[in-house]
Amino acid sequence: MHISAKDLAALIPADFTLGVATAAFQIEGALTEDGRGPAGWDVFAAKPGSIVEDQSPAVACDHYHRMPQDVALMKQLGVDSYRFSLSWSRIQPTGSGPVNPAGLAFYDRLLDELLANGISPMLTLYHWDTPLALDDAGGWMNRDTAYRLGEFAAIAAEAYGDRVARWCTINEPATVTTNGYTLGLHSPGEALMLNAFPTVHHQLLGHGLALQALRAAGVPGEIGMTNVYSPMVPKTINPLDKISASLMDLAQNRVYADPVLTGKYPDLVRAAKFFSSFEHPDEDMAIISQPLDFYGLNYYMPTKVAVGPGEGAVPASMAEAMGSDLSAAGSGGTPFHVETWPEADITSYGWPVKPEYMKVALKEMSERYPNLPPVIITEGGASFEDIIVRDKSTNTAFIPDERRLKYLSDHIQAALEATGPGGEAESIDLRGYYVWSLLDNFEWSAGYKQPFGLLHVNFETLERTPKASYFWFQELIEERNLVT
Ligand code: NOJ
Repeated sequence: MHISAKDLAALIPADFTLGVATAAFQIEGALTEDGRGPAGWDVFAAKPGSIVEDQSPAVACDHYHRMPQDVALMKQLGVDSYRFSLSWSRIQPTGSGPVNPAGLAFYDRLLDELLANGISPMLTLYHWDTPLALDDAGGWMNRDTAYRLGEFAAIAAEAYGDRVARWCTINEPATVTTNGYTLGLHSPGEALMLNAFPTVHHQLLGHGLALQALRAAGVPGEIGMTNVYSPMVPKTINPLDKISASLMDLAQNRVYADPVLTGKYPDLVRAAKFFSSFEHPDEDMAIISQPLDFYGLNYYMPTKVAVGPGEGAVPASMAEAMGSDLSAAGSGGTPFHVETWPEADITSYGWPVKPEYMKVALKEMSERYPNLPPVIITEGGASFEDIIVRDKSTNTAFIPDERRLKYLSDHIQAALEATGPGGEAESIDLRGYYVWSLLDNFEWSAGYKQPFGLLHVNFETLERTPKASYFWFQELIEERNLVT
């Protein structure tokens, strides 16, 4: 069982944001309409074998054409805020140079629609769909991409600065590096292993330059960035498992968070060979570590780590979101690997459902970074296969997604308890939780096979149907509105 919506609402502090999140490439479709330029993901997804069953992102949720309907569904849900991302190549077709007015206009309409419905916009500048022209020039291996993101931020600031309440510069750089450049499971499909390190630095620099551009433009909204965080748990008390877990923690968590929050890479990373052979100006660190108004955290699950190469390749799905599966590159040669949690409840992705580790994540963050700015959980959610139950007499559909609903309830509860009075991460000023996702959508290399939505999407008819989790979230928001 989970806590009642009423009791959960009672834990929510004043001014806490309850929101939903999406990303452009996962929902919009309309990839060739109104002057949108191609993204690297368009090309990667079209390559046979990249996406489950070779499913196509061409239509996705058709949000580009159904945006007003989707905003109406959010209004009905009652959310305070909507986190969405810009399709960079819709606005700047080649990732540099002239803008496409029709592309800019789409997000103008979206912002106006949100504000007219009392929903506060949170805008992510970069959620993985790099313009193809930039990928062709080396993508995040090329330092220039960071400057292009800075320029894109200036364009967005000028166009939307008056209406955006929260800006998120980049989303989960760890997943881009691990899946896109280390293992080749995501666009641009490079398997560079440790040679992918420049993509870490360039994304973080891109974040810093984007932040600088937003500040220079004087946007009134709050500015932050989003990292995924997965507590790394050694499989046993064997010291080698412990060392493996801390190496994984360095590679997947700290290498992305330390530079932003402390201005330097972890010492062990700096000592590593791949780092010393990569040169970057010292001044970059000051750009990367400029003060943030909030720190965005995506929490989905903990990761269990053991020494040795394991039993070989782990399914790509394990590497999604946490971006932490170095062993997926194949058995042999990898010093440590991700283990499954046989005793745990798992999602359709095989991810362990462990709300208690939400507390661990927050506690570790608070201990590691004493000067942490306010934190927002910018994503959390679960994929489960849904069953549609039809009531023939009324011809209505019902989707009893109790497991997703419980996942969300338990995780929000854990986050509120950890940061509430007497909690293990009491020093964290937690400002919000955004459910991933509003809609079932294109889950990258898993195609449409991993539904995370509060709204079910029929990918043939594109019909949206609220799930039980949608009604539960609606009730939570109503209860919260009564107490605050
Ligand atoms: C992380 C990503 O930001 C999002 O794009 C993805 O769909 C979810 N997590 C679930 O994997």
